[in-house]
Amino acid sequence: MSASLLEHEQIAIRTGRRSGVPIIIAVHSTVLGPAAGGCRMWRYRRWQDGLEDVLRLSAGMTAKFAAAGLARGGGKTVVALPEEMELGPGQRREVLLDVADAIEALGGIYATGPDVGTGPDDMALMGERTNHVFCKPTALGGSGDSSPHTADGTLAALQAVATGLDGTRSLRGLRLAVVGLGNVGARIAAALAQEGAELVLSDIDPGKQALAEQLGARWEAPEAALTAEVDIVVPAALGGVLTDVTVPALRCRAIAGPANNQLATPEVADLLQARGIEWVPDYVASAGGVIHAVSVELDGLGEDDAHKRVLGIEGTVRDLLADAKRRGVSAAVAAEELVRARLGAAARLGGAA
Ligand code: PHE
Repeated sequence: MSASLLEHEQIAIRTGRRSGVPIIIAVHSTVLGPAAGGCRMWRYRRWQDGLEDVLRLSAGMTAKFAAAGLARGGGKTVVALPEEMELGPGQRREVLLDVADAIEALGGIYATGPDVGTGPDDMALMGERTNHVFCKPTALGGSGDSSPHTADGTLAALQAVATGLDGTRSLRGLRLAVVGLGNVGARIAAALAQEGAELVLSDIDPGKQALAEQLGARWEAPEAALTAEVDIVVPAALGGVLTDVTVPALRCRAIAGPANNQLATPEVADLLQARGIEWVPDYVASAGGVIHAVSVELDGLGEDDAHKRVLGIEGTVRDLLADAKRRGVSAAVAAEELVRARLGAAARLGGAA
């Protein structure tokens, strides 16, 4: 199949009726079930840049659900705000209602959730127009903020990485650089500090330096933190940080973090492998949020059982790393095979039914 053929099942692009901003919903795959994926509200130079982002992010969600063993497909929403636009509260409401209408118009093949730039209160607002939203506040019957669970899942992945590096899952004494201190990154940093890890912290917002001081961590600019001499780098901001320029400069032994789409291009995984740097595919390490939301809201699990499922990421990563090592391939290759096998099995079942 030619790589230039559209891989997505459906892409909806519309100008918000109330807000006038471009809203793009990409449904990558519903092979495993109706698609889900967060709503990213971010500034882009051109809306076409937002389109490119949503295409990659939605494909990432397909992989995320498949690798986690959940019966959901991959989709994503990008609200492509113009760079100079500052949203007032009234305008924000208009944008969210426009997004909700666009989701409702898809008739249930896609449900959204929080992502960069949106949170549970936004999901509540969208819930006025569509039922296809995850992570509304718990008071409104949703599963609430997904960030703590994404952080827990990433910590579980880090324990598996630590086991691979030193034979012990403890993070005490390990040196880690957390690049990005948003909702998820800040929680990971705090948990790592508590575990007794040695930390380098970084964010594009210099105001976050206060957190580094509070946690007794070293503060660095983002590029310096990415290439710091540490055991593990934890990308926790926007995607695309691992490139053919940054990878040669890396001085870490492993990389695992919650940022989506960490590789600028798929080939970067081979560069990492050639340099002997262990990379845990982002869609495996970052799955805690969706695992929790789907477990509670669709599968009816209680908090304890949902939490256990999130912590299952440790075993998933341990198995992936072991499988990759045994076969002399990267964890990226091993994870892709797992995803392809699960999608293939579901497609065959669907075909036979
Ligand atoms: N931001 C989440 C992710 O990228 C999206 C999400 C969370 C979707 C919870 C559904 C439910 O994984």
